[in-house]
Amino acid sequence: MKSDKFTMRCVSCGTTLPDMRAWFSEGQQCPHCSSRQGVCDFSDGYRQLKTLTGRDRHPQSLWHYLPYLPLYNAENIVSYQEGIVDIDRWDFVELFAREHYGINCRVYAHRNDQNPATGTFKDLAGTMVASVLKENGFTKYVAASTGNIANAFAKYLASAGIELFAFIPKGSSPFQVSSIKSYGQHVYRVEGDYSRAKTLAAEFAATNNIPLAAGNFDPMRVEAKKTMVYEWLRQMDEMPTVYMQALSGGTGPIGIQKSLDELKTAGLSFKPPRQILVQSDKCAPMAQAWEKAKKLGFPENWLNDYPVIENPETEIQTLSTGNPTTYPVIAKLVRESGGEIISGEENLAVLMARMVALETSTIIGPAASIPVAGLFKALRRGMIRDGDIVLINVGEGASRAPEFMSKLAWENTTVKSLEDIKPNGNSIYRNKLWMELDKHLTT
Ligand SMILES: Cc1ncc(COP(=O)(O)O)c(C=O)c1O
Ligand SMILES: [Zn+2]
Repeated sequence: MKSDKFTMRCVSCGTTLPDMRAWFSEGQQCPHCSSRQGVCDFSDGYRQLKTLTGRDRHPQSLWHYLPYLPLYNAENIVSYQEGIVDIDRWDFVELFAREHYGINCRVYAHRNDQNPATGTFKDLAGTMVASVLKENGFTKYVAASTGNIANAFAKYLASAGIELFAFIPKGSSPFQVSSIKSYGQHVYRVEGDYSRAKTLAAEFAATNNIPLAAGNFDPMRVEAKKTMVYEWLRQMDEMPTVYMQALSGGTGPIGIQKSLDELKTAGLSFKPPRQILVQSDKCAPMAQAWEKAKKLGFPENWLNDYPVIENPETEIQTLSTGNPTTYPVIAKLVRESGGEIISGEENLAVLMARMVALETSTIIGPAASIPVAGLFKALRRGMIRDGDIVLINVGEGASRAPEFMSKLAWENTTVKSLEDIKPNGNSIYRNKLWMELDKHLTT
């Protein structure tokens, strides 16, 4: 195995390690200061990035970007052709913005629900982790998850012959548990919330000397997420001025930021988008902390002032990070980008998903409907400006949440005879939906 492709660098103190193997043998942390925030620096200065992101390229998977991913040998790749998904235009939101607020913006949707393995953007991490673990000879892995990432790991690791021990909070959907188990992996439902599941997973990993999915700074996850920006470059005619995503722990935003930094090195930089991140209003510690800091004018030490919500009462378990230990990093990054951390109303999730399904023929999942609610809120609050190019990350499809999907049906259509059937056309449905939306979105 060569070790001149990249080095691992500790973000906190700058200590470098030669490769991923060294990072694992140090217990996935900096040997000098114990920080878990390690990044991969690629030695060739990202010189091939311009070619790889060329419009003439038609990649099969995110492994198209292998020169800038922490894997040496392509034979170790475990892939279901993830990471290469459509970026759609959502003109129905553009119309809404123009008609209601006089704002001319363009809105794009990065369709991560199209990822073929599990239908979420966690497939990106799944392929990366399975491939890197395989290359480094590991046969076991431990993860705490609210469901989506454990599912992605379960599938990809099973395919690489690697055992997964997943710890998920009690509130997560039984469907997620069954799905992880179906891949033949181990799953433990933890009495308690996500934070408790993380603690148990970390203890289990340390006791049994098994590598751990080390949270939102995990370099494998960050490296996977960064490829989303490469795809913007490859597919889009214009770069976003606003990036929106559902926010739980913040791996996505960290990966995006890393990518933007690399692009500078590659001489491909563009003005970084304002990151407008959206939490569910039922579990919004970062949005609450941000709101408070903003009100106080971002006083000294604002980055360390955040609430911890124990056992958050949210139905969107995927986004249930009640103890936002990454807040100091995420909030700093958001502020530097000129963005915002807001909350989106969970009780609008079904309505948002119905609207997106009707207007774009895409059935999104509950965690993906939160940034859609957030986008309307951002419009209402003047956070989206005339001329903005908004890119929203559609993080999951509804196939991940059958309970949610079952709520999307608009009306009961059980019939006894043909007399019960009064076809009324799609426009009536559309009008009703928009009337309801207008009520919620503009008041
Ligand atoms: C669909 C979806 N959107 C957003 C998130 C939040 O991800 P992040 O770790 O970037 O906050 C998750 C996972 O937690 C998710 O599954
Ligand atoms: Zn360090």
